Amino acid sequence: MKILNFGSLNLDRVYTVAHFVQGGETETADRLETHCGGKGLNQSVALARAGGRVLHAGCVGPDGEALTGYLRDCGVDVSRVQVLDQPTGHAVIQVTPSGQNCILLFAGANRCLTREAARSALDACEPGDWLLLQNETNLTGWLAAQGAERGLKVAFNPSPADERLKEVDFRHLSLCLFNEIEGAFLTGETQPEAILDGFRRRYPACGAVLTLGGEGACYDDGEQRLYQPAIPALAVDTTGAGDTFTGYLLAAIAAGEPPAAGLRRAAAAASLAVSRKGAAPSIPRREEVEESLRRMNK
Ligand code: ATP
Ligand code: RIB
Repeated sequence: MKILNFGSLNLDRVYTVAHFVQGGETETADRLETHCGGKGLNQSVALARAGGRVLHAGCVGPDGEALTGYLRDCGVDVSRVQVLDQPTGHAVIQVTPSGQNCILLFAGANRCLTREAARSALDACEPGDWLLLQNETNLTGWLAAQGAERGLKVAFNPSPADERLKEVDFRHLSLCLFNEIEGAFLTGETQPEAILDGFRRRYPACGAVLTLGGEGACYDDGEQRLYQPAIPALAVDTTGAGDTFTGYLLAAIAAGEPPAAGLRRAAAAASLAVSRKGAAPSIPRREEVEESLRRMNK
């Protein structure tokens, strides 16, 4: 069972700041670090570190080798990542001393995927494989429809939430993973239970995962609703917490594990990720996650 992830690849420029710069203000950053990131890349890294078999599809510019090389080193198949004559996607990220972030994205090559290249990547899949999508690339609605038509199970992380989500027919999805902001955008509700109820009413056949930051996460597949508390951590940088959670949980579900076990491992992985800097580099390896779960069980 493999997971084909059509996802963004970004160079994250991370500025450490005392507080987020406001309109009309000039702020001097204390520090600049550049890391591998992008929701797509982060989720592929998390899937692979969790033990999943991952094929990543997407686009970078001529300077994107750092990103594809990083994925390759994590064990991800990057044969479907195209190098285009476009700027590589990047993110300008401000991080405060309490670990909060705000992000400005430039999509660049991430939105230059063609149907022809996408079809060729989809051809590498068999019915029953998973197709993973986020909202940082183009063709998302078309890919979801193609995936469902080909008998793939489609997982979608509708992040960041914006008008382009209207292009996606959620009836094609098997699993949708979102935070409270995205959940409110999709359902018009603001309270966790009401968001899950609203989602279930609209899309009865789709499993839902609602993440609640330091408050944990909820899972609802129509038959059971589970709550997974967050595992306390000293938050240094929460960038990529959701991606870590998504990758670890989807790897468990794709491997046929019960959702409760996958949720617990995903929470442990995300807890380790928030205690470290950066997006992709903060994603823990499976052995680290198992060791942290063992320590908690003692
Ligand atoms: P991002 O967009 O920053 O990647 P997100 O908004 O998609 O994140 P969150 O809901 O913030 O995702 O977090 C996902 C999971 O990460 C949570 O369900 C929780 O398990 C874990 N997590 C997030 N913040 C913390 C924290 N401060 N302490 C411990 N665990 C956390
Ligand atoms: O989810 C975190 C990611 O969002 C960052 O790595 C950044 O690139 C943006 O895409």
